[in-house]
Amino acid sequence: MAVPGVGLLTRLNLCARRRTRVQRPIVRLLSCPGTVAKDLRRDEQPSGSVETGFEDKIPKRRFSEMQNERREQAQRTVLIHCPEKISENKFLKYLSQFGPINNHFFYESFGLYAVVEFCQKESIGSLQNGTHTPSTAMETAIPFRSRFFNLKLKNQTSERSRVRSSNQLPRSNKQLFELLCYAESLNTLLKEFQLTEENTKLRYLTCSLIEDMAAAYFPDCIVRPFGSSVNTFGKLGCDLDMFLDLDETRNLSAHKISGNFLMEFQVKNVPSERIATQKILSVLGECLDHFGPGCVGVQKILNARCPLVRFSHQASGFQCDLTTNNRIALTSSELLYIYGALDSRVRALVFSVRCWARAHSLTSSIPGAWITNFSLTMMVIFFLQRRSPPILPTLDSLKTLADAEDKCVIEGNNCTFVRDLSRIKPSQNTETLELLLKEFFEYFGNFAFDKNSINIRQGREQNKPDSSPLYIQNPFETSLNISKNVSQSQLQKFVDLARESAWILQQEDTDRPSISSNRPWGLVSLLLPSAPNRKSFTKKKSNKFAIETVKNLLESLKGNRTENFTKTSGKRTISTQT
Ligand code: GTP
Ligand code: MG
Repeated sequence: MAVPGVGLLTRLNLCARRRTRVQRPIVRLLSCPGTVAKDLRRDEQPSGSVETGFEDKIPKRRFSEMQNERREQAQRTVLIHCPEKISENKFLKYLSQFGPINNHFFYESFGLYAVVEFCQKESIGSLQNGTHTPSTAMETAIPFRSRFFNLKLKNQTSERSRVRSSNQLPRSNKQLFELLCYAESLNTLLKEFQLTEENTKLRYLTCSLIEDMAAAYFPDCIVRPFGSSVNTFGKLGCDLDMFLDLDETRNLSAHKISGNFLMEFQVKNVPSERIATQKILSVLGECLDHFGPGCVGVQKILNARCPLVRFSHQASGFQCDLTTNNRIALTSSELLYIYGALDSRVRALVFSVRCWARAHSLTSSIPGAWITNFSLTMMVIFFLQRRSPPILPTLDSLKTLADAEDKCVIEGNNCTFVRDLSRIKPSQNTETLELLLKEFFEYFGNFAFDKNSINIRQGREQNKPDSSPLYIQNPFETSLNISKNVSQSQLQKFVDLARESAWILQQEDTDRPSISSNRPWGLVSLLLPSAPNRKSFTKKKSNKFAIETVKNLLESLKGNRTENFTKTSGKRTISTQT
């Protein structure tokens, strides 16, 4: 007998099987940030819940300010693998001898780790000077000084206490299910799955550790995170996209002109920028593989359209993609950051649509003909530009608000847009999130994909320049389509599911079940398998099954770190598309 919903579950299980060749640690945060003084005073008090600084708050700072501040914080921070049982107090007292500590937290990921932010960068040198390279009888350690340490106990029996868990863990599936069923707002998903402050800190720290390694070759380089780690649309477990920025290295060689002389570095020349990129990434890949503490599974994917080195940073649990010469992607992240900051509905809607798409296997971490999260985000932005009055401005209007400082041309592409958020007028539109979600499904359920393209630069539909089933114009490289990989059948699946979801939400407007009826509704009803399956089931069984299905689904949404870990071929979007 066919069981309703088995399709979805089977798909989820199959996906899970396919993607778990390498087990990815689940990062659990255990303790909260605070100053040492505060921590020492707190002593044995239980850790309270933490203000993450992200929930419901829309960042208003410039992207570059935010990046610089976090990068500077990360440079004062160390990562320490700790014994399982440790006294937090004694640990902090011990570290304080190297300098005052500004902030710390613990998390679990195949062991206990501490992220400790000192007040001053100099403290790190003191700590490194007080640290030795281990030696064992059987193996030889490659001596390498980094900011990733191992803390050992001299006397195993002296430390008995465990650091206590703060309220950092995600809710149980049951709680989440109830939340989604009866939540009055779609913000619930955003709150549950968005990156926490600690997770963001860990991402910047990981970039900073990789930057230390790259600096051995390029002392002025910067490793910058981009993509969903920084564009405010990241979900816990998303990959960590990094960009090795060598501009400072290049610029330094151009100055210091005195009299009639011009001094240049002796350098090696190669025939193209691409070959230079490949050579740089190849060497860094080797370096990470041989010397990078905690960097495992290093793959050099140098023939992709955007060459990259992919590896797993075991201690943080992140799957990392390191690229260089990829400044446009960083600029796209900045643009998305601005759109996410302009109106609180944007991120909630993007999260809902991303979760909906993931639940129905419209997106996948495996490269293929699927829609990507980046494309989905563009579709939401476009839809919000089309509302009346618009909720988001077009990219062209952001360009008209730009000043001289914002002027930016990358490889001949005009990437100018206003960076100062306070110069953009808030929208007059007052539509609710729930209405917007329904309208999003209706809009794209009826969009003329066969004729029209999506274009956030002008905020209006345009004739498609080629026959790709889905055409979303790259906002900066305007002759390119960011969804070139999407097949007709994947697009059709998207359209069918969008129509069905619009219909479900329409029904709910007129027939919203009472809480006592225990019938899933709201976002939960959208995440369930498609309607025909549900109709053929008795209501009682259906409810039980629905609960199970949603539990599995939530697990899959939370656990896509496992999937990300095993992406094997070239960067799906960058390599195959634009
Ligand atoms: P996740 O699925 O959460 O990782 O979302 P993401 O936005 O980080 O996507 P992904 O890791 O695939 O790509 C990282 C960044 O690269 C994106 O945010 C974009 O800025 C850029 N990018 C991704 N795909 C494309 C593409 O097809 N064309 C261009 N020009 N840039 C892309
Ligand atoms: Mg990413």
